[in-house]
Amino acid sequence: MKPERISPSTAWDAVIFAAATSVAIVLPLHLVLGQEKVPWFWVFDAVINIIFLIDLVVNLRASRWSVRDGGPVWFFVDFLSAFPLHLLPWGEVLIGLRLLKMLRVGQLMSEWRRARLQHWNTLRLVYFAYWVGLLVHLLSIGWLVIRTAGVEAPTWEGYLRGLYWCIVTVTTIGYGDITPQNNVEIIYAIGVMIVGVSMYGYVIGNIATLLTNLHPARRHYLENMERLGAFMEYRGLPEDLQRRIRAYFAYVWEQRLGYDESTIIGGLPPGLHTEVSLFLKRDVIRKVPFFKGAGDELIREIAIQMKPVIFTPGDSVFMAGEPGREMYFISRGQVEVISRDGSTVVAILKEGDFFGEMALLLGRPRVATVRAVGYCDLYSLDKVAFDRILASYPKFAAHIESMAKEREEKH
Ligand code: CMP
Repeated sequence: MKPERISPSTAWDAVIFAAATSVAIVLPLHLVLGQEKVPWFWVFDAVINIIFLIDLVVNLRASRWSVRDGGPVWFFVDFLSAFPLHLLPWGEVLIGLRLLKMLRVGQLMSEWRRARLQHWNTLRLVYFAYWVGLLVHLLSIGWLVIRTAGVEAPTWEGYLRGLYWCIVTVTTIGYGDITPQNNVEIIYAIGVMIVGVSMYGYVIGNIATLLTNLHPARRHYLENMERLGAFMEYRGLPEDLQRRIRAYFAYVWEQRLGYDESTIIGGLPPGLHTEVSLFLKRDVIRKVPFFKGAGDELIREIAIQMKPVIFTPGDSVFMAGEPGREMYFISRGQVEVISRDGSTVVAILKEGDFFGEMALLLGRPRVATVRAVGYCDLYSLDKVAFDRILASYPKFAAHIESMAKEREEKH
């Protein structure tokens, strides 16, 4: 699969996500442990402050608040969390407002989930782990506060012990080496246990669905293959034919995750349909030398009309003598052009070549048989569209005609 390109705005969103998360981890620790235990906090806060300020400017320039739901609320979230809060009286406490940025984390998560619907289930698992991790961190700090209240100053070691207790409790392992000593601690422990059990319930209840839905496209493919296999057995298709059908579906799966391009883009409104067609067919358009000099209009027209077809090794695209209904462009793979009597290979055509134009142009049967050498991704252009395009674009017509003439001389 091709690696996805990361846009600058996605990269910036990731920076904000990381910054807000680190605030959610570091800030509560700083508030509880105090300045001496986290001496680097103000450096950290300055960096975060700068990042959030840049974000404020970025959002202002992109007018994000005007397009998002609840715009003014988001402005306040961005503004308050980016304010140099420590300059204010009560700055030590007001600094907590930086945590407001966590609202953006929630929003980013749902945006990413919407943009990556195909990974919905994986993201659900990842998000769940993220929130659990953060919750355990906060619960550990809570335990530290309760445990040390009025007894001693909270320390890093105390936090570590709190984290240990929290994980042991939340995961329902419960070694019992650290136990609640007074009423407040008992109540707190009950709360944490309830949180733990609910999480457990959620995981157990969802894990089966999550796992089966992890790769919906793959499951769909396997189901189809199973049905197909049963059908072919039932109708007693020859072994070789069965093998070729399976190979075809495996190829379609590998190349396109089993999706039928035409059906998917067929449901789009005309404007989007054209854009997506152009994008999907950009490879073949780039490969066909003639298209390089062709105008945008012609390319658009051809892109909309071309339909993808796949041929497996040894398949005949058509036989000599058949009437011609469409011509083909080769997007990937090779085909051989075989003379009418079947004795010689007249030519091998590869990516970027086209064939089948002679029958359409001259209105007579195919002069040769064309057969796929390996797997071939072709795009077909039917006669009606071909004639219309020829009539509207004389340069295209001239190019095709000269090619057909050249080829005809060899027969
Ligand atoms: P058509 O006659 O429709 O069907 C067979 C196709 O093979 C023909 O159009 C040409 O596109 C192609 N073809 C025929 N002869 C040659 C050749 N010598 N070289 C390349 N392609 C050819």
